Amino acid sequence: MKTAVIFGVTGQDGSYLSELLLSKGYKVVGVNRRTSSENTSRITYSLDHSNFELVQGDVTDPFSIHRILADYTPNEVYNLAAQSHVGVSFKQASLTWSITAVGCMNILEAIRSMASPPRFYQASSSEMFGDQFSVAKSSSLNSLQPVPEPYQNEDTPFSPQSPYAIAKCAAHHAVRLYRKSYNLYACGGILFNHESERRGLEFVTRKISNYVAGLDWATRMGRSIPKLHLGNLLAKRDWGHAEDYVEAMWMMLQQDGPDDYVIATGNSHSVEDYAKEAFKCINIEEYLYFIEVDKTLARPSEVPYLRGCSKKAFRKMGWKPRTNFKSLVKRMVDHDIQSRFQYEKSEAEISQS
Ligand code: NAP
Ligand code: GDD
Repeated sequence: MKTAVIFGVTGQDGSYLSELLLSKGYKVVGVNRRTSSENTSRITYSLDHSNFELVQGDVTDPFSIHRILADYTPNEVYNLAAQSHVGVSFKQASLTWSITAVGCMNILEAIRSMASPPRFYQASSSEMFGDQFSVAKSSSLNSLQPVPEPYQNEDTPFSPQSPYAIAKCAAHHAVRLYRKSYNLYACGGILFNHESERRGLEFVTRKISNYVAGLDWATRMGRSIPKLHLGNLLAKRDWGHAEDYVEAMWMMLQQDGPDDYVIATGNSHSVEDYAKEAFKCINIEEYLYFIEVDKTLARPSEVPYLRGCSKKAFRKMGWKPRTNFKSLVKRMVDHDIQSRFQYEKSEAEISQS
């Protein structure tokens, strides 16, 4: 039986990856940092599984990493741990650096000192591209063809636009350096935005789907709720579903050799497009009426446009996304409506008992 260690198991991706690896017969060791309140709500399925073990550790504490790797001698290590909110990274830059950059270095150092180093996956990010993109060479087009949309792939230069992105670039370069210098099987998965029913409420997609579910409930109750405050509506992202993306992480560690891969859907939508689609799920066309643009939510520096080209991942690993933009939005909104319905039902039951 293969053993995998997941740093960041309690997060969105960690929870899906854990379930994927368990379904493939792995023993999964999930690393959980100490928090003052429960943070395992996303991994209830894994916690009940006989091949899953939760251990305490923190990527900023090299001793805890060494201990875990020595205790379990895993075949694969996935580093998903990060201060992953770009906006927060402007306010807690040093903490973001410690977790997101130094944390990765701590794991790499621990791995390279092992007699039999495990394969390593680093959660790199499309944020690293910042304001850069590539365009198809015009010589390959004739005048009748439409100008193709700009994209980012493995050859697009990095131009980080936030403390988070700078930390991710540092970690990504460390992975490349350790792979070359110490012959480690270490991969950087350059993943574009991926969302889900388990996405944190502070990310824009879930903030919107959760609001729409609240509005749906309020309308049914004949009540009104405050407007939805959003920052930049024009930013464009390439949004996929996290379930598809954790499969790519696993695939990267099953190849003949290590490499870096862009993982994306190839389609780009604005924050406003997402909102429009989400409100449509509850039959509201006049979505702008419910939105208030709040300048305090705008970031000091923004990544305006992301659209990934994951041809390499398809060609070399056969990976492709299964969930398109519309079904992603619908899944998230439907889930939040259901959750609210369940909550109201249990509240009503409590008040009647
Ligand atoms: P997430 O939900 O924010 O999860 C982050 C995880 O890191 C949580 O389990 C968190 O634990 C853990 N963590 C934070 N600080 C830690 C520390 N000091 N030691 C150990 N664990 C720590 O993020 P996600 O969306 O699942 O993303 C997973 C990874 O992929 C992150 O590295 C993120 O930066 C990267 N990424 C995400 C996307 C995306 O669109 N989702 C795209 C590209 C790259 P707590 O539960 O205790 O907070
Ligand atoms: N969070 C948030 N909240 N974002 C908003 C809001 C708001 O109220 N209003 C507008 N936005 C805009 C942001 O300025 C950004 O342009 C876009 O919505 C997406 O923001 P997030 O959902 O916070 O995601 P992100 O793109 O900054 O970062 C996510 O994707 C990266 C990969 O590209 C995170 O998951 C990162 O960890 C990940 O690396």
